[in-house]
Amino acid sequence: MIWKKLSRDEIKERVFSALDTNRNYDSDYILGIPGTYLDTEQFYRDAEFLENAPFLKTFINNPNHIGCHTLAVDEGEDLFRGTQRIEVELIRLISEDIMKAEPKSIDGYIAPGGTEANIQAMWIYRNYFRAEFKADLSEIAVLFSDDSHYSFYKGANLLNIKALSIPVTEKTREIDGQALKTHLAKAKKEGIKYIIAIANLSTTMFGSVDSIDLIANALEEENLQYKLHLDGAFGGFIYPFTNGESKMNFSNPRVNSITMDAHKMLMAPYGTGVFLIRKGWMHYAATEEASYVQGLDYTMVGSRSGAQAVSIWMILMIHGPQGWTKMMRTLIAETDKLCAALDELGVNYYRNPHLNIVSMQADQVPLGIPQRYRLVSDNFNDEPRWWKIVVMQHTVGKVVDRFISDMRSVLEKA
Ligand SMILES: Cc1ncc(COP(=O)(O)O)c(C=O)c1O
Repeated sequence: MIWKKLSRDEIKERVFSALDTNRNYDSDYILGIPGTYLDTEQFYRDAEFLENAPFLKTFINNPNHIGCHTLAVDEGEDLFRGTQRIEVELIRLISEDIMKAEPKSIDGYIAPGGTEANIQAMWIYRNYFRAEFKADLSEIAVLFSDDSHYSFYKGANLLNIKALSIPVTEKTREIDGQALKTHLAKAKKEGIKYIIAIANLSTTMFGSVDSIDLIANALEEENLQYKLHLDGAFGGFIYPFTNGESKMNFSNPRVNSITMDAHKMLMAPYGTGVFLIRKGWMHYAATEEASYVQGLDYTMVGSRSGAQAVSIWMILMIHGPQGWTKMMRTLIAETDKLCAALDELGVNYYRNPHLNIVSMQADQVPLGIPQRYRLVSDNFNDEPRWWKIVVMQHTVGKVVDRFISDMRSVLEKA
């Protein structure tokens, strides 16, 4: 196990030593790079507190992690090797200790977010089908459930491939197996031969988790070529800790790549998506023309701040695996409490027992409550059918308790 709890001092020491290994704009001769430290008028470099603030110190030093450093460790841009090594260790920790991959079997990088990581996966697979099967763009589709995140539509639009959205059953939010078969047969008739399949490791609105087998079996029955990506942007940092039986990870040979977002459940700053893919695939996204970048570029994003990787690493290390598991289970207990209160009040809702999202049937939620608690609807343009609650760290205790008490007083009076 790479992941172990570290003390605040150990974390500080490791990050400062990585910054010392990096070349620094204020102490080294760096002439050829269109980058520097953060503006000194606005971001003082000499503030005393920075000596105890490894994340801010990294942020101010401004290391660039352009490229994908797991491909050939220490062969990328050589200016920022210290913090790049933290990123390489982080990708191993997340892929092996959380997502159950074999040692050193995964490439990846810290992406700006779930959208970029999802589109990176689609980009790699589209290029793979083009390179290996001489596929025409009109023969490639991305397949996902109706409850999936809109980034798949964005990606299909950018990559000029078809988006194939499959209905789910209203109550269970599971992909409708019959509808899947019908849609695949129709797509085949229309010339689709290659599928980029997406399985949700928690949908945005419901916290529902797709069945990989349902999707993969249907594709295999239709003899369609496919690669499967998991969208764990929301669920990636909670579900593995709350469902010990999870096969939504690299132990499942059908899973080829995974998106996770540290800026959702891991409480990291925005700009901390995680892209993971089995080794042997990143080169389908290589841009040969990026010849002035040492080690080339294999990502959509290009330049990215090394501070983002450092922030994720620091959060994981301060909690350690036991601490993080405990925190995520606290959220589940709080969600259980909320659901028990809704049961008592007779309010219908959807909830996956391993996740912290509860979507209530909109017609059962009293007027004014959604606005008061800033609930999210499935459709802000039209009549909402669902109102969603996400039980997060800031809602544990007082917000959830107050919500339950408000619901009780309105519904019991009615
Ligand atoms: C399931 C899922 N995928 C992808 C995304 C996109 O993530 P981001 O906003 O970080 O780009 C989200 C965001 O809510 C999400 O819930």
